[in-house]
Amino acid sequence: MQHINSVLITGASSGIGRALALECAGSGTTLHLSGRDPARLDDTARECQARGAEVRAVVLDVRDAAAMAGWIGGAGRLDLVVANAGIGAGIEDGRPEPEAQVRAIFATNLDGVLNTVLPALAAMAAQQPGPGGVRGRIAVVASIAAFIPASAAPSYCAAKSAADAWTVATARAARGQGVWLTSVCPGYIRTAMTAANRFPMPGLMDADRAARIMLRGVLAGRVRVTFPWWLGAVARVAALLPPRLTGMLMATQPGKAAAAST
Ligand SMILES: NC(=O)c1ccc[n+]([C@@H]2O[C@H](COP(=O)([O-])OP(=O)(O)OC[C@H]3O[C@@H](n4cnc5c(N)ncnc54)[C@H](OP(=O)(O)O)[C@@H]3O)[C@@H](O)[C@H]2O)c1
Repeated sequence: MQHINSVLITGASSGIGRALALECAGSGTTLHLSGRDPARLDDTARECQARGAEVRAVVLDVRDAAAMAGWIGGAGRLDLVVANAGIGAGIEDGRPEPEAQVRAIFATNLDGVLNTVLPALAAMAAQQPGPGGVRGRIAVVASIAAFIPASAAPSYCAAKSAADAWTVATARAARGQGVWLTSVCPGYIRTAMTAANRFPMPGLMDADRAARIMLRGVLAGRVRVTFPWWLGAVARVAALLPPRLTGMLMATQPGKAAAAST
């Protein structure tokens, strides 16, 4: 892996964020990690330290814009920032999505991303350029759910769609400032988020493999990294249908587990 000296990751206490931290951990690397659960965050930090990384871990809620700006602005030079923290929840039996769930998902999966990326963009634009004129790289963990408005998970799909579209649309202007933005759209990854799913998950892969694919794409400077590619293609094609047909098709597919892990 191309060497990156300083990495900041939200949601490092579990799943993909933890796997990313471990993948980046190594001698000479400084990791700035955050999450909400102190014990699990500490566990990730210890494993990264055991691999030789210097770790600065903080318990932080991505919904707290001021605290996020303070953390990111005070981190020093950052080569890579990953806006990974997120929650997943769907609805069952065609019932309306509860307001508290709608608001929690948008606050975490969209505002939380902006609370990470906006201060990171500002900080990186002020950094000295590194090799190839790159001042820094930012990855937003969206989802293949961004490509299709599934009625079983309305807010999750909508928030991921907004996060993906905003990231891709912002990438050009960011690159003009020397900052490379990537939207990462994974399919099903084996983490706490998918553990409650009781339906087939095509292409399900382990978090450590997903982390390697993500980092490879981000370091290659890709604006969007979608994997597995064929699941992304299926979602794109299904979304091309008239909404009524997409809805009928998606109604045959089970959604995310209903309970919001907020
Ligand atoms: N698993 C999949 O199949 C899949 C597929 C596509 C995209 N994704 C996306 O990948 C990202 C990581 O998910 P995962 O699968 O690794 O799930 P996970 O194991 O449940 O991890 C979620 C992480 O986000 C953190 N988090 C949640 N809300 C937070 C908040 N308000 N403030 C700070 N941290 C918060 C959690 O911290 P605590 O546990 O400490 O609260 C945890 O570290 C999410 O954005 C998810 O939508 C997942």
